[in-house]
Amino acid sequence: MHSTRRILCQGLNRNLRQFSCTSKNNFKVAVAGASGGIGQPLSLLLKQCPMVSELRLYDIVNTPGVAADLSHIETPAKVEGYEGNDCMEEAFKGCDIIVVPAGVPRKPGMTRDDLFATNAGIVRDIATAAAKAAPKAHFCIISNPVNSTVPIASEVYKACGVYDPCRIFGVSTLDIVRANTFVAELKGLNPMEVCIPVIGGHAGITIIPLISQAKPKVDFDEATLAKLIPRIQDAGTEVVKAKAGAGSATLSMAYAGARFAISLMRAMKGEKDVVECAYVASDCVKGLDYFSTPLVLGKNGIEQNLGLGKLTAGEQKLVDAAIPELKKSIQKGVDFVNK
Ligand code: NAD
Ligand code: LMR
Repeated sequence: MHSTRRILCQGLNRNLRQFSCTSKNNFKVAVAGASGGIGQPLSLLLKQCPMVSELRLYDIVNTPGVAADLSHIETPAKVEGYEGNDCMEEAFKGCDIIVVPAGVPRKPGMTRDDLFATNAGIVRDIATAAAKAAPKAHFCIISNPVNSTVPIASEVYKACGVYDPCRIFGVSTLDIVRANTFVAELKGLNPMEVCIPVIGGHAGITIIPLISQAKPKVDFDEATLAKLIPRIQDAGTEVVKAKAGAGSATLSMAYAGARFAISLMRAMKGEKDVVECAYVASDCVKGLDYFSTPLVLGKNGIEQNLGLGKLTAGEQKLVDAAIPELKKSIQKGVDFVNK
């Protein structure tokens, strides 16, 4: 027991040293929807991150309990629970990052767009509070349908006069995580060493893995690609079916959400070449105001949009097929706020 504990401490100390070599280790991070299936494990992962000094847990239910529980973990982040709409602005005040997994998940047979009716209003209200209380915070939206909720948040920030397109992100990291995992499985590689950009949006055919840009380079025959690409596009549905009514991906999403938030913090601390794909305001594809591509992150959010890169003919077809659906989902989000 004693030696296990020593090993754990050594591990943590190594991490702390690793992260303390640059200036800032005191990020304030809020999770909105912190009591949910994603919110709880995401908050756990953020509590373990030595770059976080304050972790604010906001939800309409149960945050006092979740906060009390997490606050006993022996890491520096101070945990505070905020329960109910009235606490929202207080929860976000002064935050560097707000991560939003608030809202309902899919049940079998539903599309992500079917969640719009409930989640659009939730994201609008959270974005309104964030725009007022922490307009400079990076606002990271997990709530579905991401293809519409990101335009919703942007319109809210515009209406509040604090819009900065470099700070509003649709978190599509789980698509990259899945693509890395599935490709590694097929090629017998270590998934932690595989990097597949996934562009477009975050729903069905709008999810576009760029296998031709994989690192390391991988080759697949047409028949394998014809199974691999739909598997990545439908991976969320794979989990929804397997959970059989009990929700959608939570643990892998918590991992992906923490990875994205930690990448933002690393970039804000001044680390160079931090690249993540995310669904953001973009002029990369003609006729679309939002699109996911690899982004170089910096102190103020998006530092550079790396664009689509060189696509194969097959990948270009996938982009072309995604455009009408993305256009519709974006307009639906914009209209929700403005009409
Ligand atoms: P969940 O039902 O387990 O948790 C949602 C939480 O949101 C609950 O605790 C609920 O109380 C809270 N909530 C509801 N309204 C709120 C409000 N107004 N303010 C604050 N909190 C509120 O759901 P989940 O499984 O955690 O999924 C959450 C969302 O994330 C869903 O919309 C789901 O589709 C989405 N999701 C996205 C991705 C992605 O890749 N972007 C992946 C998985 C899930
Ligand atoms: C996912 O990709 O797992 C999420 O978008 C949740 C869902 O509804 O599939």
